[in-house]
Formats: sequence, C-alpha cells, structure tokens
Amino acid sequence: MNSMVEPFPGVMEALRTRTTEHHERAEKHPFQKALVSGRLPRPAYRENIAQLMFIHAELEARLRTLRESDPRVAAIIGENRFHSGTFESELRFLGMEPGAAQALPEVAGLVDELRVLAAREPLAALGMVYVLEGSTNGGVFIAKAVTRAYGLAGPEGTRWLNPHGEGQRPAWIAFKQAMDGAGFTPGEAEAMVAAARWMFDAVSRVGSAVLAAHPEAGVSGPSGAR
Ligand code: HEM
Repeated sequence: MNSMVEPFPGVMEALRTRTTEHHERAEKHPFQKALVSGRLPRPAYRENIAQLMFIHAELEARLRTLRESDPRVAAIIGENRFHSGTFESELRFLGMEPGAAQALPEVAGLVDELRVLAAREPLAALGMVYVLEGSTNGGVFIAKAVTRAYGLAGPEGTRWLNPHGEGQRPAWIAFKQAMDGAGFTPGEAEAMVAAARWMFDAVSRVGSAVLAAHPEAGVSGPSGAR
C-alpha cells in the first residue's frame, strides 16, 4: 500500500503546468500572430481593446464583491489588479469614447458565461485574473512590437498589454507570492485551473470575434469554435 500523499505543489504551479497547452493555443491564435507581426489594421486593434474591456469590467465587479467576503482574496487583489480604467483610457487615446463601444454578440455571451462561472464558484475569478495578469509577461514584448508596427511613441496605445509598465516584473512576482501564500486547498485550486482554462480560450474567442467583425484585416480565426 502506498501511504504517500501527493504533495500539493501550490496554486501557481498548478495554474502554470496545467494550462500550458492553453497558453500555446492562445499564443498561436491568428489574432495574436497578426498582432505581433503588425498586420492587424488599427480598427481591429482598437476593437480588441474595446471587447476585452467588457471582460475586464465584469471580472473586476466579481473580484470587488469577492474580496469583501474573503480576506484571502483581499490580500491578493489590490487596486493595481483592476485594469478596465486602463482599457478605457487606451480607447480614448485611440479615438473612441468607451461609452460608445458595444460588445460583440460573442463577447456579450462570454460576459454571461463569466458571470455564471463566478456565481457557481466565486474563487474561479482568481483563475481568470491569473490569465490576465500573466498575459502581461508576454505583453511586455508584444507592446514593443506593436509600438513599432503602429508608429506609436508609447506607452499610450500599448498600456492595455502591460498596465504595470516598468513595474511588471515585481507586480507579477507579488501576485504569485500572494496566491501561493493564501493557503488555497487542492479543491479550490482545481476550480481556479478550470476557470483559467476558460479565460485563455475566452481571450482567443474575443480574437476570433474581432477578426470576424473586421474582414478588412484579411485574417480569419481558426476553424472550429476557437
Ligand atoms: C504572441 C502571444 C504571446 C506571447 C509571445 C507570450 C509570451 C509569454 C512569455 C514570454 C511569458 C513568460 C514566461 C516566463 O517568464 O516564465 C508568458 C507568460 C504567460 N502568458 Fe503569454 N504570451 C502570449 C500570449 C498570451 C495570451 C494571449 C495570454 C492570455 C490569454 C497569455 C497568458 C500568459 C500567462 C497566464 C502567463 C504566465 C504563465 C506562468 O508563469 O504561470 N499569453 N507569455
């Protein structure tokens, strides 16, 4: 009989190792490829920011409520994890009033899904925020490519990719430490992994919806749902 109990590696390790293929898929999505290579026309670029703003806003609302009832969440989620304001100012910089933005049907559906998932398992919101915070790691590099592609002086116009600016690395390390220090149970980590997988795919679904709404981009999403 094996009496060894598998040690719990910590929630961040679980999130990283169990979403690897989701990251690979997200990275390879035609939208991301067009983005980093500067082939994405400006209207589609701006549309993506507008659509992601809706996702961020809904997630923020969930997190604000959750951190009032769960001190572990309050210890992880400070104001610096809320980025919808950045998305709004990015839109203004790119010539669109945030209030004039309309969610594409696919994105409105994603917002509904997010609400349902978070209602079923509130800590799912932390798995989702993991994906968005983690994306600032690649965002630092993507922002450089985009700055060149669109002839931007920066950082305006690319802050949505890395809202932490120069502080990206310490902000990411602090997030990881706070998550690992919270003492989540394996069951809670499991819920976060499922939600993180959903969020990776959700970002790709936003990309597909933006490409479909902007045929002038000459890029189509992958065949199939995502
Ligand atoms: C062309 C697109 C992308 C590139 C080149 C890229 C690149 C990277 C790089 C270099 C890292 C840092 C790895 C490390 O320091 O250990 C990273 C981490 C991460 N990226 Fe991306 N990424 C891309 C797209 C995305 C997208 C679209 C998302 C979210 C939907 C995302 C989510 C994450 C997450 C969550 C992490 C943290 C992984 C962890 O250490 O737990 N990435 N990415």
